[in-house]
Amino acid sequence: MNDLAGKHIVLGLSGGIACYKAADLCRAMVKESATVQVVMTQAAEQFITPVTMQALSNRPVYGSQWDAREPNNMPHINLSREADAILIAPCSADFMARLLHGSADELLSLMCLARPVAQVPLLLAPAMNREMWAHPATQRNMAQISADGAHILGVGSGFQACGETGDGRMLEPAELLEDLVAFFQPKTMVGLRVLVTAGPTFEPIDPIRGITNHSSGKMGFAVAKAAREAGAQVTLVAGPVSLTTPRGVERVDVGSAQQMLDATLAQAPSADVFIATAAVADWRPASPSGQKIKKDGSGRAPVLAFAENPDILATVAQGERARSGQLFCVGFAAETHDLVTHARAKLARKGIPLIVGNIGPLTFGEDDNQLLLVDQFGTQELPRASKIALARTLVAEISRRLHRTVPPAG
Ligand code: CTP
Repeated sequence: MNDLAGKHIVLGLSGGIACYKAADLCRAMVKESATVQVVMTQAAEQFITPVTMQALSNRPVYGSQWDAREPNNMPHINLSREADAILIAPCSADFMARLLHGSADELLSLMCLARPVAQVPLLLAPAMNREMWAHPATQRNMAQISADGAHILGVGSGFQACGETGDGRMLEPAELLEDLVAFFQPKTMVGLRVLVTAGPTFEPIDPIRGITNHSSGKMGFAVAKAAREAGAQVTLVAGPVSLTTPRGVERVDVGSAQQMLDATLAQAPSADVFIATAAVADWRPASPSGQKIKKDGSGRAPVLAFAENPDILATVAQGERARSGQLFCVGFAAETHDLVTHARAKLARKGIPLIVGNIGPLTFGEDDNQLLLVDQFGTQELPRASKIALARTLVAEISRRLHRTVPPAG
């Protein structure tokens, strides 16, 4: 709920039916503790009232370059100097054309032109009919605006207010919020490929039943999201969980430990970092039945024989890529007791440079956690915090070790 704490965002609305989504976006940003200053074009006011936006942002809305509320009568200067970012959502085709030409005859485009380019990023959430979006003029304008320093957040695809279906819808408020939060995260992993395993595995007994565990996958999904926010290209190999895939992350769904191993080994040759957060079942039923095992009326329960599962992390860590230093492997240790001793033993047993210890019953299913980083130099406690906050710190710690900018903490 504090992902935008301390950030002041100017939310600009240009004219388009997607203005109705800007109300939700404004509310979502405020909920994440941002201060939001709304600026609207006259066309935007045809779609949603300044009253709505003022109520949601808790600030008077600006709409005119002649606004006498500003002592110097220069809202275009004052508003842009205060902002950590200007986000135009929706950004209409016409507004894009105006940005391209540096138009300055109404407040919103004037303010964009007057912003200090190096200090105040401009983010655009285009919204328009699919033909307008696909038109060469729009695509040309977008390429040039992008070259001029704006960040285009992309568009959604699907059913449009005009009744047509295709590309050009404004991204949903939750997606825009995720992109905005990501925008402000330090880009410590640009150019890296990160592979993450997450969640439990499911080991079938028969086509109906199986053995699994309490892992929710939340920590692994948070790690994937944090790595993506840091600029990495991320693949997430996920066991059976019901979680939304973080934006920009490629997800491969698997069931059993063997499937997780296969999916991981398919990705590992191109990865730079492997983070094994999954709670992989140590054993599987040795010969799962092809048919449902039925009660035979004798009152005797079936006896299951188990086989040991492959150790995914150890397999990857023993591979050529990891041993030659091209792949940095990070393990998680889920324990119930003696965390430091067990974590340190696993670090050695798996042959990895970093392991993250946590107490299983205190983390499974929870939204927060506390971690202990253990490497050859020592231990470092990450106190109780949300899983995404911990994941961001972990990503920063991994980056620090990769770039060797400062000696590891210990
Ligand atoms: N791991 C794995 N494949 C397995 C078992 C574990 O990749 N078959 C990984 C986990 O994703 C985690 C680390 O190894 O990163 C440690 O997992 P954990 O379950 O804590 O330990 P185990 O190796 O299973 O050892 P033990 O059962 O003795 O605690």
